Amino acid sequence: GKIVALLVAAGSGTRAGGGLPKQYRTIAGKPMIGHAIEGLLHPRIAAVHVVIGQGQERQFADATRTYSLPEPTLGGSERHDSARRGLEAIAAQGGADIVLIHDAARPFLPSRVVDALIDGARGAGGAVPGLPVVDTLARSGDLLGDVVPRAGLIRVQTPQAFRFPAILAAHRAWKNGIATDDAQIARAAGIEVAVVEGDTMLEKLTYEADFVRAEERLAASLI
Ligand code: CTP
Ligand code: MG
Repeated sequence: GKIVALLVAAGSGTRAGGGLPKQYRTIAGKPMIGHAIEGLLHPRIAAVHVVIGQGQERQFADATRTYSLPEPTLGGSERHDSARRGLEAIAAQGGADIVLIHDAARPFLPSRVVDALIDGARGAGGAVPGLPVVDTLARSGDLLGDVVPRAGLIRVQTPQAFRFPAILAAHRAWKNGIATDDAQIARAAGIEVAVVEGDTMLEKLTYEADFVRAEERLAASLI
């Protein structure tokens, strides 16, 4: 069956600052969106569809002219709006059997994770990469509050893989407000989601300091 990727890159990168949407910031001389696309150029993935922000057409074209990509789709105001628009665009272009939905803000994607996700989605219907919580978790206001037991909790990353027709239907049915990932939309529609082993390389770059650390790791060839 046909496997495609959907890269959501329509955010504004407010928390990272830096004067431009973070997906266009360079890491080791390459825009973050380029690193993310390259991670999805995997032998089992037929095409990488990208969702971009309104007004970011020029930045997208400049950053991606070395790749052969379908026309980008314009995103919406929340991440789940952008994902929905991308899924609709894929449907309009003939659909797929499996889709991997990925954040442009996670530029380093091990090939092993892609394989595990595809196999997981073929089995369960959906699959996400997850990592254990290693720090103590606690509620917090002005002062430290109660500890939240971390046993049984994981950190959920992207890409997230799903059987395409089911995740499209789940997005069309979603009406519970803001969703920060697609697996919660899938689960609300009754799709079973498997957890495969995530990777610290997949951590999302959110703040300025995350970009500094990513540069250092690349420079030290630790990635
Ligand atoms: N995203 C999107 N459409 C939106 C919001 C986010 O496609 N309306 C994408 C971002 O481009 C990013 C991913 O969703 O690849 C994860 O979002 P996040 O890390 O929150 O990025 P931003 O929303 O751009 O950053 P911030 O929240 O700091 O503004
Ligand atoms: Mg955001």
